[in-house]
Amino acid sequence: MKGMKFAAALLCGMSALAAAPLVAQAEPPGAKPWMDAKLSAEKRADLILAHMSLDEKVALLHGPMGMSFGPGPLPDGAIGSAGYIPGNARLGIPALQESDASLGVANPMLVRGADDMSTALPSSLALAATFDPQIAYDGGKMVGTEARAKTINVQLAGGVNLARDPRGGRNFEYAGEDPLLAGTMAGESIRGIQSNGIISTVKHYALNGQEHNRMTADSVIGQDAARESDLLAFQIAIEKGKPGSVMCSYNLINGVYGCQNDWTLNQVLKKDWGYKGFVMSDWGAVHEVGAFTAGLDQQSGEQLDKQVWFDKPLKEGVAAGTIPTARVDDAARRVLTAMFTAGLFDRTDTKQPIDFDAHAQVAQREEEGAIVLLENRGVLPIAAGAKKIAVIGGNADAGVPSGTGSSQVSNPYRKPGTPLRSVALGGEGMMAAFSSVVFHPSAPLTALRERFKNAHVSFDNGIYPEAAAAAARDADVAVVFVYQPSGEGEDAPSTSLPFGQDALIDAVAAANPNTVVVLETGNAVDMPWAGKVGAIVQAWYGGQKGGEAIARVLTGEVNPSGRLPITWQRDVSQLPRPVVPGTGAAPDARVKVDYTIEGPDVGYRWFARQRMSPQYWFGHGLSYTSFGYQGLSVTGRKTVTASVTVTNTGAKAGKDVVQLYLTGKPGSDERRLIGFEKVALAPGESRKVSFTADPRLLAEFDTGKNGWVIAPGDYTVGIGTDAGTIKLSGSAKLSAQTLKP
Ligand code: BGC
Repeated sequence: MKGMKFAAALLCGMSALAAAPLVAQAEPPGAKPWMDAKLSAEKRADLILAHMSLDEKVALLHGPMGMSFGPGPLPDGAIGSAGYIPGNARLGIPALQESDASLGVANPMLVRGADDMSTALPSSLALAATFDPQIAYDGGKMVGTEARAKTINVQLAGGVNLARDPRGGRNFEYAGEDPLLAGTMAGESIRGIQSNGIISTVKHYALNGQEHNRMTADSVIGQDAARESDLLAFQIAIEKGKPGSVMCSYNLINGVYGCQNDWTLNQVLKKDWGYKGFVMSDWGAVHEVGAFTAGLDQQSGEQLDKQVWFDKPLKEGVAAGTIPTARVDDAARRVLTAMFTAGLFDRTDTKQPIDFDAHAQVAQREEEGAIVLLENRGVLPIAAGAKKIAVIGGNADAGVPSGTGSSQVSNPYRKPGTPLRSVALGGEGMMAAFSSVVFHPSAPLTALRERFKNAHVSFDNGIYPEAAAAAARDADVAVVFVYQPSGEGEDAPSTSLPFGQDALIDAVAAANPNTVVVLETGNAVDMPWAGKVGAIVQAWYGGQKGGEAIARVLTGEVNPSGRLPITWQRDVSQLPRPVVPGTGAAPDARVKVDYTIEGPDVGYRWFARQRMSPQYWFGHGLSYTSFGYQGLSVTGRKTVTASVTVTNTGAKAGKDVVQLYLTGKPGSDERRLIGFEKVALAPGESRKVSFTADPRLLAEFDTGKNGWVIAPGDYTVGIGTDAGTIKLSGSAKLSAQTLKP
């Protein structure tokens, strides 16, 4: 009886709420004052909200995947992509067509047809290795242009989780281990995407540092440590990129799911940072309607959750008074404001042609700036007069590998009818369908053959070390391509190269001292052979023009200028967690990922704190020329400002990344990147570079005061060629300060 009464009351309440929309002021029938593009986005959102029923508001707060798994139609109105939020014809609200990701516009399972191709950028980790914010912006702009040309208006991009583990399956989608570098590069990429009048996300908020048990892993960390590391990367990316949306993550944070975490969503993001955009969930990351009051605004990919929480249960919550209507308005306002800001109400998108040739150049420039020369014992660049070059392994006859999962540009641009090589990895679970390494059709072998027309450039697939060694033996130089698949849903179980490639390198290096190893990996891999080879080049996942870019670096047409955005361990014993948490656990087991071990000291900061020497420090990268620094001048009171003159002291034009590190603050040693700038210099040319440090990078986060605290005293800084090698030092005296969170 009681239950029936409750149900009846609920129904009454709901129908009342779903009744005619409230019209705030008298207007001619059919008028849509929010269509006035001269008004601010906020004003327009308020105007339209006043005309919306509860049902109409709630319809903006959830949506299905924009594709169907297997046979079956697409959701009505969806063009075929990762996510879809239907529009509203009565009010003129356009639908949201949401596609992955940061490296290009995905077309998973060819859902939009085999002729829908996209330009594939190098991995985001490669982008970070450029240390060049302009390249990040240009790449983002390119991706956004293609999205818009395909009538996609939300790009699920902006991966900025810090690389806390070199086995992390998605590190290739992120921008490295340092908050300043990662936040800057992701932010610029987002800014570029949104310059096309579309919305970008930043993701996956937050502390989504591993793929192993990604739905149930619990990232445990102090709030102060999180603010100084992963959250700071998001904060910087949001400030620079102003993304319309933040995608919250699958994992738990200190025991609470990322998409229902009041601390990260309501307190930090919305209150402390004043974020005005909307929070969308990752696909299948919503566990209860309570996520809504904890700060999640939109449930995405709703078929993947146990329920469409943000529909009926949400309306029931409103009727029962457990969910304030003001919160519904707030969530809908956030979605609408982002849409108005992007201009989505002011146009009708239609398919446009894409200038793939121009876009391929963007991808190539990015890779050329990203390749890191790790070692060179006089073997590179390859002499123009080389007569015999042995190219070995890595599918270098087909292209360059890419990371797997939702970010993969599965259908990269190529001449129609040209087949792609892809290596299926197999496996179990939902992500298995996405687990094929696609080799983007830019073959290093072809690019090298074009450059050495008078030489014999042979190819051996590298499957048998003996055959590869025989091919290498009498060559002028042997170039061994080795790769590591990595991708969404799975971490690498170790930091070793797979497929017996260490043995391949050993055999080739024993046969020919002029062996160049080209790594194409999503992470730092162990190099037991590092001392035996002539040169090592890190080419990451090279994107649409990877082969061309690699060949240009190997020949010296391009002087390598990439720097490591991650510290390179010697082996797993140096890591905060020698074993990936949850190894061996059931897939749905709750797994504690203890980030209190390193706390805010991610990557090079961990190595510096432990006084360990890695294989290569963050920031390391060689050149075919050399650089010198003079005249470091450091001043400060509220923050550190510094200037230094960098000179190209060698014989070739090249680019240096001038890196400024904090090395000490009152009472403690420190190591933190506080400024970087990439400069192009002709031989003998000098340039003065100036920095003003973001004071948060000098401060500590005080949870009691809820702010950044700078202790008074001396702050020492240095110009380093990497995080472990400081060339010039100076110091400044700062006054005590507390800055807002
Ligand atoms: C990934 C997100 C992606 C979404 C939509 C999820 O599995 O974690 O990065 O944007 O799928 O494809």
